[in-house]
Amino acid sequence: MGDLVLETAQLVLRRVDEGDAELQHRILNTAAVMKHLGGVKELHEIETKHAKTMASFAREGFGFMMMIEKATGDMVGHAGLKRVDHTLALNQGDMEIGWLVREDRWRRGYAMEAARAVRDLAFVGHDTPLLVALTSAANVGSWRIMEKLGMRRRKDLDFNDPNFPAGENPTIQYSIDREEWQASR
Ligand SMILES: CC(C)(COP(=O)(O)OP(=O)(O)OC[C@H]1O[C@@H](n2cnc3c(N)ncnc32)[C@H](O)[C@@H]1OP(=O)(O)O)[C@@H](O)C(=O)NCCC(=O)NCCS
Repeated sequence: MGDLVLETAQLVLRRVDEGDAELQHRILNTAAVMKHLGGVKELHEIETKHAKTMASFAREGFGFMMMIEKATGDMVGHAGLKRVDHTLALNQGDMEIGWLVREDRWRRGYAMEAARAVRDLAFVGHDTPLLVALTSAANVGSWRIMEKLGMRRRKDLDFNDPNFPAGENPTIQYSIDREEWQASR
């Protein structure tokens, strides 16, 4: 079991560990959850992402985590930090925040709770000057969370991803810098 990284009112967030790819594939990899993320993934694709996040934890001390519901011990989502690595992004290397929640636990405040804790970890624990988030205009739930985190729309960082359908383009970005984060607290 991966080490505990964060605790919130309803959740704990622990490091991704061996075996979590299978759990994610079974529980989070549904058509509804993956609708704006390029559709459902093969197990090997999730394994590759998890290997990258474990390497990121080893190298930089941060990565994506599994969200565990305190009340039940169930895995209910995935959230954390990575470096922007999309080859078409102008801001590769910026620290990026992201989240997903299993669909039978939507609208309980889990994404917001996890996202606030991860945002604060980025500024306090990892001393980042800037935090960004990527989504599409169609993913209303996700960009509302970005706005609630105090992030602002960065049209200058938008890009088109030919691997995504027209309805999911462009990829849009939001950001918050250290001063904006301090002012919002
Ligand atoms: C987007 C997602 C993470 C939201 O998770 P959640 O735990 O249900 O979100 P929360 O309950 O914390 O909601 C926080 C806020 O997000 C917004 N929101 C969440 N889902 C929404 C939806 N379906 N439509 C509109 N706004 C939504 C609301 O503003 C909400 O605040 P409110 O409840 O006070 O109105 C979840 O729907 C999900 O996993 N989607 C698929 C994966 C995904 O697209 N991830 C983002 C990739 S960029």
